[in-house]
Amino acid sequence: MQDRHFDALASRFAEKIYGGAKGAIRLAVLQADLSEVLPERPLRVLDIGAGLGHMALWLAEQGHQVTLAEPAEPMLQGARERFAQAGQNATFIQAPWQELASQLEQPFDLVLCHAVLEWLAEPHSILPLLQQLTAADGWLSLAFYNRDALIYRNLLKGHFRKLRSDALAGEKQSLTPQRPIDPRELEQQMSADWLIESRSGVRVFHDYMPAEFQARAELAELLEMELAYRRHPTYGGLGRYLHWLCQPCGGVS
Ligand SMILES: C[S@@+](CC[C@H](N)C(=O)[O-])C[C@H]1O[C@@H](n2cnc3c(N)ncnc32)[C@H](O)[C@@H]1O
Repeated sequence: MQDRHFDALASRFAEKIYGGAKGAIRLAVLQADLSEVLPERPLRVLDIGAGLGHMALWLAEQGHQVTLAEPAEPMLQGARERFAQAGQNATFIQAPWQELASQLEQPFDLVLCHAVLEWLAEPHSILPLLQQLTAADGWLSLAFYNRDALIYRNLLKGHFRKLRSDALAGEKQSLTPQRPIDPRELEQQMSADWLIESRSGVRVFHDYMPAEFQARAELAELLEMELAYRRHPTYGGLGRYLHWLCQPCGGVS
């Protein structure tokens, strides 16, 4: 298995993920979480696997100095266009994470790694780099595709054979990730080096709603409810993605 760069998936990703409520909820949760912790000064921000640059642009618009790293040229080009349209500047690096250690030296105040782990052949292998590139008093914003939610959705759909054979990975060229992440396993891998300061679920109920209610729901109300329940002790863990804000152990809170 290899890391899945989104060279061929760029337009489907734009349409299916950011074309509707799913993307709007994702951005609302990530932005609400970050707004709670980020200091009010310009930060050096690195977005690894930045995709089309949605979060990076939001941060640039808040006055932060943003670097986007992304291996797939069509995605990076989409991000460049989005920044140009908004009249914002950033540094764009076309590279996979494996090449970043040699290209970037100084650590960053904020490192984003959103919806990337589950597309890697070996998700845990990126963790040392995230640590290397996050300043001692900086933040890591880590969002990943939640294996627990995928299991729950398959239970609700009665896909028991799929669950018995543990066939949860997406097909080639599908937008279902190849390595859904087990949150407990990831927490274990991170426990020596990171403090997980906050945890939110992204889309804790939207994707489980019956289609007719989904279609009828007002976006503003969906956002309000998703934000209200994102950290609920039961429902938070059902988010299709989980968002963890982490600080290096020994960092300053
Ligand atoms: C689901 S998209 C997420 C994009 C963006 N972070 C977001 O949340 O909208 C996953 C991205 O990870 C990128 N990716 C895949 N393998 C990578 C690697 N080895 N290093 C960095 N990024 C990678 C893909 O090209 C794709 O743009």
